[in-house]
Amino acid sequence: MEQIVTGEQMKALDVYTIEQMQMPSLVLMERAGLQVFWSMQKEGLPLSKVLVLCGSGNNGADGVVIARLLTLGGYQTDVCILGKPEHFTKEMEKQIEIGRNYGISFVKTFCVHEYTTIVDALFGVGLSREIKGTYRETIESLEHFQGKIVAVDIPSGIHAGTGAVLGCAVRADLTVTFGYKKAGLCLYPGAAYAGKLISADVGILMPPSFGSGLFACTREELKTLVRKPDGNKGSFGKVFLVAGSREIFGAAYLSGQAVLRSGAGMLKIATPKENREMFACFPEAMLAVYDEETALEELVRENLDWADVIGIGPGIGISHLSERLLELLLKLVKKPLVIDADGLRLLKGKEALLRACKGPVILTPHLGEFAALTGISIARWKENPIEITEKTAEELGVILVCKDARTLISSKEGKTCINLCGNDGMATAGSGDVLTGLILGLLAQGLLPFQAACTGVYLHARAGDLAASKKGRAAMLAGDLIDAAGEILKEL
Ligand code: APR
Repeated sequence: MEQIVTGEQMKALDVYTIEQMQMPSLVLMERAGLQVFWSMQKEGLPLSKVLVLCGSGNNGADGVVIARLLTLGGYQTDVCILGKPEHFTKEMEKQIEIGRNYGISFVKTFCVHEYTTIVDALFGVGLSREIKGTYRETIESLEHFQGKIVAVDIPSGIHAGTGAVLGCAVRADLTVTFGYKKAGLCLYPGAAYAGKLISADVGILMPPSFGSGLFACTREELKTLVRKPDGNKGSFGKVFLVAGSREIFGAAYLSGQAVLRSGAGMLKIATPKENREMFACFPEAMLAVYDEETALEELVRENLDWADVIGIGPGIGISHLSERLLELLLKLVKKPLVIDADGLRLLKGKEALLRACKGPVILTPHLGEFAALTGISIARWKENPIEITEKTAEELGVILVCKDARTLISSKEGKTCINLCGNDGMATAGSGDVLTGLILGLLAQGLLPFQAACTGVYLHARAGDLAASKKGRAAMLAGDLIDAAGEILKEL
């Protein structure tokens, strides 16, 4: 997994590097400036006339370094400092002094249309409140700028911890971020303002004791899934899935297909008796059908003994039978349990039962289901997604997968993973059912619950990108994700 940090964590790492490692701040700054300068050249930005906009903090000081490097490189460059001298950091004062000695051009006013590229060094991770006044007017004047914009560390106006826009924000074509990716660059709307994101090494090291529990899913996770040549269908894991109802057969089918396509050995689906004929098209799945007459406790106990992992929810509908099945699972399960869709709706009011559950539980709500379950509105979640997801996971004692354009996965121990791939084509009926199936399939093959949840989300998103490249984002179907997930696994 790739380490991600909040703004506060990045500041702490800066301090650690300067004070404990004894790395002078001006050296870090020089490296940061060089990284931006090189990236501007490498990315082929139009550098015939460059304007560097600087704030009064150290992000502004980085900007003055970049202006010096551009000037020395022979590029016509102007610097405009919007911050007031009384607010300058000591590094900013020093960089201005050095810049003057090197003869860089400081301007007090400018017309943006004279420039081909603008460097945004107004605010970095130190932005702490809504942008107003001259800063705001300047940022708003960039909206009609025809050239390219490079953001230093993070686009000004984006909160480094949440990705929120603090009043207004710079829409960058390229962001060169230092040390570690900031959470605000990974979450929307911040992610949309960053443009192309490049992480640059400037010499900041995270000490082992630092304990930032924030990560991004990477390809490496998929490599933990190894097929054993001497394995059998039992050793690849048995999944018991309570899914489908009279009206909704498709959810059970899609989830079940995803279970087997991700490599699980055996699948048994518990579904209402009326669905029996529909399952003729899915001969690989075993069935346990039930109706009003069925002894549900017996059915559950028997299958909990047989299965390695259990799932409930896709298409089960809201009925007293589905509610009873959920309660029985929560009471009796000692193995990993994934709860999705209608299972989440039925969970409302059963939080005590959930907390008392003996097996590790993974909940996979989209934001509507999350709001219904917790009473926390979608708007409120979007204000501070990481903190709210972590807190809810801890309170409910579960692994929580909050599905959104940037899905978050939090463990009850406070570890959080952000998914950075996937696309809007995945916002299609049945897509969530496929994710549930993939997570179950990975659990069945022995991945630990948090790892299975993160890897499942990543695999699902990579499958989404592959399906979009073949079918187009508008036309892709949830079923395409299942085949694509198989292809992603084949690549490994
Ligand atoms: N309006 C005006 N001033 C503000 C606002 C605001 N909305 N929010 C914060 N400030 C002020 C702060 O009071 C502080 O003086 O801006 C300054 C912080 O600016 P930054 O340059 O973002 O913060 P700083 O901690 O100095 O530098 C962090 O330096 O390591 C580099 O680029 C890297 O992002 C990193 C930056």
